[in-house]
Amino acid sequence: MNANATMQIVRSVAELQNILNPRQREGRTVGFVPTMGFLHEGHLALAGQARREHDVVVMSIFVNPAQFGPGEDYEAYPRDEQRDAELAAAAGVDYLFIPSVEEMYPHDSSIRILPGTQAEQLCGASRPGHFDGVLKVLLKLFNIVDPDESYFGMKDAQQLAIIETFVRDFNLRTAINRVETVREEDGMAKSSRNVRLTEQERKEASAINRALASGKKSYYEGVPLSEIEKIVSSAIENHTSGTIDYVKALAYPSLDEDFSDADEVIIAAAVKFSSTRLIDNIIMSTIKDERK
Ligand code: PAF
Repeated sequence: MNANATMQIVRSVAELQNILNPRQREGRTVGFVPTMGFLHEGHLALAGQARREHDVVVMSIFVNPAQFGPGEDYEAYPRDEQRDAELAAAAGVDYLFIPSVEEMYPHDSSIRILPGTQAEQLCGASRPGHFDGVLKVLLKLFNIVDPDESYFGMKDAQQLAIIETFVRDFNLRTAINRVETVREEDGMAKSSRNVRLTEQERKEASAINRALASGKKSYYEGVPLSEIEKIVSSAIENHTSGTIDYVKALAYPSLDEDFSDADEVIIAAAVKFSSTRLIDNIIMSTIKDERK
C-alpha cells in the first residue's frame, strides 16, 4: 500500500476547487473515486487503481440524500468517518472530500437530471428517482473535481451503465473506469450494507453469487436466457430466507430487454433481507446464435 501520511481532508467545495484548479495542477492527472463512505475492499480497490494510474487521487465521501427515496435507509446508512479516513490514507488517497449536505445542496434547486430507459429496469424500477439523485450528485462532483478518470465498481452495474451513457451523451470530460467487483471468500459481493445482515443471513447471502454463476453455466450449456431467470430465482429462493426483488437478464450496457444485437448480457439480482437489500450481478458475452 502507498500509505499517504499527508492526506488532506477537505470539507468545502471552494477549497477543493482551489486545490484542483487547472492552474494548480501543472499537468498532473487526477483520478477520482466517488463513494458514500463506510469503506470496504471494493472502494479500496478503486482507490488503489486510481493511485497506480494518476498523479493525484481524490476520494469523496457523501451519503447523498437525493438518491434515497422516502422510507429508504438514508438515516440508517452506516457511517464511520474516522475509520474511512484511515483506510483512505492507507490506500494512497491525496484529498478526501467530505462535504456536508448544506455544502453540496445549498439551494433548493428545481432543476432535475433524468436518466432514460436504462433507469426503468432493475433497481430503478423498485427505487423510483434513485438514479436521478445519483446523476445529480455526480454531475456536481465531476464539476467540482474535474477528474481525468473516475472509478466505479461493477457491483452497481446498472449505475455504471447509466453513468457511462451520461458521460458519453453529455460530453463530460472524465473517462469512466469499470472495476471488477471485490468479493468475500465465499463469493458474496463486498458492500457497505453487508454489516446489517444477521449472522444467519450473512451465511445465506453467498447463495446469490452461486445462483448467478450457475445461471451463467446453464447459459453456456445452451439454456435460453428466458429460462435462466427462473433457474437463478429458484436457486436464491431455495438457499436464502430473503425475498427476491428482481432477477433479470438484460442486454448490457443498454439494459434493453431485446438481446438480439447485444455483445454482452447481464443477469442481475436484488434480494431483500430483514434489514437490508443486497444486489449482485454477472456479465457474460452473448452466444451469437442464441441471444434470445
Ligand atoms: O455508488 C455509490 O456509492 C453512489 O451511488 C455514488 C456513485 C457515490 C453517488 O452517490
